[in-house]
Amino acid sequence: MEKFLPFFLLCILFFLRKVNGQGDMITTTKFIKDGETIVSSDGTFELGFFSPGNTSTNRYVGIWYKKISVITPVWVANRLVPLTNKTGVLKVIQSGSVALRDVTNSTIWSTNSSKSVQNPVAQLLDTGNFVLRDANDLNPENFLWQSFDYPTDTLIANMKLGRDLVTGFERYLSSWKSSDDPAPGDYTYHCDPTGYPQDVMRKGADVIYRAGPWNGLRWSGAPNMVNNSITSFGLVMNNKEIYYKYELVNKSVVSALVVKPNGNTMRLIWITKTQGWVNYHSADADDCDTYKLCGAYGTCNILSDPLCHCLDKFEPKHQDDWNRADWTSGCVRKTPLNCTGDGFIMYSGVKLPDTRTSWFNETMSLDECRAFCLRNCSCMGYTNLDIRNGGSGCLIWIDELIDIRQLSQSGQNIYIRMSASEIGSAGSSSKGEKSVILAVALPLLFALILLGVGVGLILYKRRRREDPVVTTRGRYSGHNNKNDNSNQSHHEDFELPLLDFLTLINATDNFSIANKIGEGGFGQVYKGVLEGGQEVAVKRLSETSKQGIHEFKNEVNCIAKLQHRNLVKLLGCCVQGEEKMLVYEYLRNKSLDIYIFDEERSTLLDWPKRFNIINGIARGLMYLHQDSRLRIIHRDLKASNVLLDTDMNPKISDFGMARSFGGDETGANTRRVVGTYGYMSPEYAVDGIFSVKSDVFSFGVLVLEIVSGKKNRRFVHPDHHLNLLGHTYMLHKEGRSLELVDPKLADTCNISEVQRSIHVGLLCVQQNPEDRPSMSTVIMMLTNEGILPSAKHPGFFTERKIGEVDQFSWSTQTPSSINEVTITLLDAR
Ligand SMILES: *[C@@H]1O[C@H](CO)[C@@H](O)[C@H](O)[C@H]1NC(C)=O
Ligand SMILES: *[C@@H]1O[C@H](CO)[C@@H](O)[C@H](O)[C@H]1NC(C)=O
Ligand SMILES: *[C@@H]1O[C@H](CO)[C@@H](O)[C@H](O)[C@H]1NC(C)=O
Ligand SMILES: *[C@@H]1O[C@H](CO)[C@@H](O)[C@H](O)[C@H]1NC(C)=O
Ligand SMILES: *[C@@H]1O[C@H](CO)[C@@H](O)[C@H](O)[C@H]1NC(C)=O
Ligand SMILES: *[C@@H]1O[C@H](CO)[C@@H](O)[C@H](O)[C@H]1NC(C)=O
Ligand SMILES: *[C@@H]1O[C@H](CO)[C@@H](O)[C@H](O)[C@H]1NC(C)=O
Ligand SMILES: *[C@@H]1O[C@H](CO)[C@@H](O)[C@H](O)[C@H]1NC(C)=O
Ligand SMILES: *[C@@H]1O[C@H](CO)[C@@H](O)[C@H](O)[C@H]1NC(C)=O
Repeated sequence: MEKFLPFFLLCILFFLRKVNGQGDMITTTKFIKDGETIVSSDGTFELGFFSPGNTSTNRYVGIWYKKISVITPVWVANRLVPLTNKTGVLKVIQSGSVALRDVTNSTIWSTNSSKSVQNPVAQLLDTGNFVLRDANDLNPENFLWQSFDYPTDTLIANMKLGRDLVTGFERYLSSWKSSDDPAPGDYTYHCDPTGYPQDVMRKGADVIYRAGPWNGLRWSGAPNMVNNSITSFGLVMNNKEIYYKYELVNKSVVSALVVKPNGNTMRLIWITKTQGWVNYHSADADDCDTYKLCGAYGTCNILSDPLCHCLDKFEPKHQDDWNRADWTSGCVRKTPLNCTGDGFIMYSGVKLPDTRTSWFNETMSLDECRAFCLRNCSCMGYTNLDIRNGGSGCLIWIDELIDIRQLSQSGQNIYIRMSASEIGSAGSSSKGEKSVILAVALPLLFALILLGVGVGLILYKRRRREDPVVTTRGRYSGHNNKNDNSNQSHHEDFELPLLDFLTLINATDNFSIANKIGEGGFGQVYKGVLEGGQEVAVKRLSETSKQGIHEFKNEVNCIAKLQHRNLVKLLGCCVQGEEKMLVYEYLRNKSLDIYIFDEERSTLLDWPKRFNIINGIARGLMYLHQDSRLRIIHRDLKASNVLLDTDMNPKISDFGMARSFGGDETGANTRRVVGTYGYMSPEYAVDGIFSVKSDVFSFGVLVLEIVSGKKNRRFVHPDHHLNLLGHTYMLHKEGRSLELVDPKLADTCNISEVQRSIHVGLLCVQQNPEDRPSMSTVIMMLTNEGILPSAKHPGFFTERKIGEVDQFSWSTQTPSSINEVTITLLDAR
């Protein structure tokens, strides 16, 4: 059999040649005319003539993917000079070039090489590289010319992006002028080796975006561009050249990095199922990626409003400008430096500043790096060059630090030069240095404290939904509460199906916006359809989880074992690089909030249905609290986390998330507060103390919302400034609780059930956690006729001091301008 293999291959080659007409080569005698093409030997790439976009009739020579139905040129030869008709011919010239000529035999475009060879041929390789070489010389070093040296707007696998240090030759991407015109546009994408290499996007001569310096794993500011099941990335740096490239892990996947005419730089993946390109990752993703937005020593946090803050120990250079949201002048140290006596303060969770003014040494340790930086008065900061294996190498900055942003999980540490007096005033550690959280965390923490005295709320305009608040508390001691359950689970086999990333990409059309069905602080939710047609909901967790993969899988496995008719079923999970995804059953009727708070849809839920929902949620929650092996505290129970099945039975979703996200805690006190304003109990929001009774509080809020059809957070009443809880309590005290009931329920409501529900709701939201009933008691109280204890004062915002709180009002003063918040406070360590 093996003997026949070469013959067999020859046959295939011959066959391919036949099919492709001209094979993969042009020679001095074999040229191609417009309408003819050559195809790489494995059939991946095709070279020929094309017209770009929809309207242009100009003809260009280009290379595109043969197998893709939409012609997507990855390279264009004559991008500056188009042919205006189909008379073009692409030839190899004996003197050693490839030339594009028109009917009058004038050269439209040609390659340029100083060398010449005996027998030049031009060949389209399987990589998509179009090379000019001697017919008998396959050594890439001796190629006369190659298209990979002249990228257009697309970086395909194995192309180099960077600089030849010997000749100074640079390979970079440049956008097309428009989708109809491949001439170089305004935007270029470079691997800039100045200082220490970083990827930058330029518009004209100006840098408009930096991906940040290479840190051994990825660009500092592009956390998602790490080795994954589709692509692997790398920076190559030696005496001769510095370049960035990527490889395809699975050669049959089609993926490319493209700079669009409008400057969007994105990694595209071809999805065969939908016959379309999807954007897998965009380079500059949000406002904080705008180069230098916050000026020197300013930091951008996408979760804060305003976006820019000065780093701790810094203040705006021009306070007036700063107040007007003109951040360009940046920040200065509160205490000026005094070269000799300086030290450093560590700032964590950042995208490293612009390294064009940096210097590096690959072998120095961090301590040597510090000493080196200290000796040179113009050194403003230092950090490890490579973050792998605990960190190595030395990167220092010799000028102002610009273009810093805060990254929620994948940020790095940087040590910034600071006068000794500032370090002293911060309370010195053994080294006389102290790490601080970014300045932006402080206002947020302050606001949380305000919350406790019945005021405030921070607002963030970009988020429309009720997102969980995720905060991390600095005062957590860390060692006192080890989780027994997770230890126990470490020894169990993994039973939950592990799904492949590509499967999920296919299922959700690469997490297309069209398939997005929800968003929260834990991540975004997409609808997907698996191969067999099964509909699923895919939760793509945001990178706020600090868990390792093993730990995560164990955790998820535990959660998967929770089975109850009032809990959403977890079907599988997927771990991909730093990404973690959960796959749930898909519920067509979506979540409770879209019914009860909506004028029209609320009529679909009559009282019996609502009472059934209240009871169902109660049972699901009791199962989590008491019946399941794990004793789960949900911590983010709210209307949007209650999904409805086809019969309008409630199913709680997102349970157990807090465990995965909160790390090691079983009760009492936590570093991270996870929850949503309006549903959070006071003791939890303010002190981070949580227990099953915090869930009971959220349940109480939910019950009152279901009965009233009003949001606690948005509640406004013309006569007073109470929130929904305060309002209900007042009505209840005055024996008027039926006034609370959603008018849509007038026809269907059962007065005794309604009154009972309201009463139970109020019992659940009492200020003192001890006073709140357990979920089993709640279920008993809801279903039995017995006498209920009288409800005490509800927790949180029963009375508000008008005037003082206008600006931070919870909901009464400026309901429309206050949107729900996602907050992430990073811890200092
Ligand atoms: C070409 O036309 C199609 C259909 O009209 C449209 O969807 C597509 O966006 C157009 N492409 C360009 C590059 O203009
Ligand atoms: C095709 O275009 C070339 C210029 O690019 C022109 O010289 C030639 O006359 C044109 N031929 C026809 C048939 O239009
Ligand atoms: C076309 O031009 C090349 C040189 O530019 C010349 O060698 C060749 O003979 C010309 N061919 C024709 C058909 O005129
Ligand atoms: C050809 O190369 C030389 C030197 O390498 C350069 O000066 C010249 O501009 C190039 N010509 C074209 C058409 O690219
Ligand atoms: C990513 O993959 C490439 C190619 O397989 C490998 O050379 C590189 O070391 C990997 N990078 C990391 C950080 O693992
Ligand atoms: C590569 O991807 C194709 C299509 O996505 C898939 O069918 C194939 O199994 C993959 N191969 C490997 C080795 O993962
Ligand atoms: C700078 O620090 C040195 C040593 O701590 C001190 O002697 C000197 O007075 C300081 N100079 C200024 C201008 O603060
Ligand atoms: C890097 O630092 C090491 C140790 O300090 C030193 O031996 C080496 O010469 C330095 N390399 C460069 C390029 O400065
Ligand atoms: C500080 O370091 C920079 C970069 O290495 C160098 O250009 C400068 O001369 C140094 N300054 C002093 C005072 O050593």
